[in-house]
Amino acid sequence: MNVLILGSGGREHALAWKLSKSTKVSNLFIAPGNGGTQACGTNIDLSPTDFDAVANACLQTKTKMVIVGPEAPLVEGIVEYFQDRDELKHITIIGPGKKGAQLEGSKAFAKEFMKKFDIPTARYAAFTKETLNEGIAFIDTLQPPYVLKADGLAAGKGVLIPETADEAKAELKNMLDGKFGKAGDTVVIEEFLKGIEVSCFCYTNGKDYVMLPEAKDYKRIGHGDTGLNTGGMGSISPVPFADKAFLKKVEEQVVKPTIQGLQQSQIPYHGFIFFGLMNVAGDPYVIEYNVRLGDPETESILPRIETDIMEMYEAGTADRLKDFELSFSNQHAASVMLVSGGYPEQYEKGLPIMIPENQHDCILLHAGTTLKNNNLVTSGGRVMAVTSLQKSMDKALKAAMSVAEQINYEKKYFRKDLGFDLK
Ligand SMILES: Nc1ncnc2c1ncn2[C@@H]1O[C@H](COP(=O)(O)OP(=O)(O)OP(=O)(O)O)[C@@H](O)[C@H]1O
Ligand SMILES: [Mg+2]
Repeated sequence: MNVLILGSGGREHALAWKLSKSTKVSNLFIAPGNGGTQACGTNIDLSPTDFDAVANACLQTKTKMVIVGPEAPLVEGIVEYFQDRDELKHITIIGPGKKGAQLEGSKAFAKEFMKKFDIPTARYAAFTKETLNEGIAFIDTLQPPYVLKADGLAAGKGVLIPETADEAKAELKNMLDGKFGKAGDTVVIEEFLKGIEVSCFCYTNGKDYVMLPEAKDYKRIGHGDTGLNTGGMGSISPVPFADKAFLKKVEEQVVKPTIQGLQQSQIPYHGFIFFGLMNVAGDPYVIEYNVRLGDPETESILPRIETDIMEMYEAGTADRLKDFELSFSNQHAASVMLVSGGYPEQYEKGLPIMIPENQHDCILLHAGTTLKNNNLVTSGGRVMAVTSLQKSMDKALKAAMSVAEQINYEKKYFRKDLGFDLK
């Protein structure tokens, strides 16, 4: 089968790396891909939200399955685009349609859904410009700090956590006045949950599901989780506190009611659900849903999966998921993200990257790289993830950090304290 992966980051390279090992994939295409993905397949230069271009690429390459990496094409309706055209109907898309994508595309929709199906989450209310005063009154019913979320997609930058009520009220006004554009036309305000975060994932066909390994990511740029939020500075899998009992609660209290809720709401869903969870004294609370795999979590969970994931997609498409078992190794994965100096603010691109010959069994998953006159150069804020699989978390972190040290480009930066809160 010919398969096309949409996207260009570390997540997509991890998917391409994994699929390039599948005996069920004849030709692999990545659109647009990056400087690393062409080692796994053929890059096709197009934008994942340009559906005409995606469709043409599928027809020209005789693609039978499209795996959608990022959320934007899903929220914008790529599934419906393909379903509405006879010449494209035979192509399977891994990712939900517009309705299902609302779980990520609208924080207010997601909270309403969780309330309706009794899925544990923080107490909340949603407000618009017309209900600003109610929003201000609601803030007074909460304890600091305060969590304010722009309803729509805001590239991971739409959440503010002010420390004081006055700051929260001012930020509510700013958001409703357009601080995050139309994404902030509605603002969700919710109580702050004290705990430690973990990312859990399932693959589902809207009826049955399989759990993938869980992971913990590190979003902040600075050591000790300080400084600005980024797209992700690294991840670890498995997560020590996500033991059998905790993961059982996740399945019973979160995963199953979510899929039953989708069925009861007649929302078809074929793809991944990413549960952003807070472990509050041993109980899982849903912070958010994402309707795709996470980045940087994918860079540590996919290398732990031993099963050919094409078998998983086939089982999902052929309604054989109920009895399907996904096997993954007990080894520990650590994935360290190398970023450009100055990221997430101003940073330079086009800097030559030197990679050591011996990578000590680490897997290098490119994010922001491209080839310029056949030389590998940086092309984004997040440049490359170094993933190591070892017998323990500490060994995996050590091995990944040591290779991260040896990869060179100007102003390279990476966090050296991943896992600090898990020891
Ligand atoms: N109720 C809450 N209590 C405590 N912290 C929270 C709460 N909601 C969100 N956060 C913090 O804010 C971060 C971002 O929130 P959320 O995941 O909802 O937003 P997002 O923009 O969709 O993020 P992402 O880019 O990860 O998809 C969370 O990872 C968490 O650290
Ligand atoms: Mg999100």
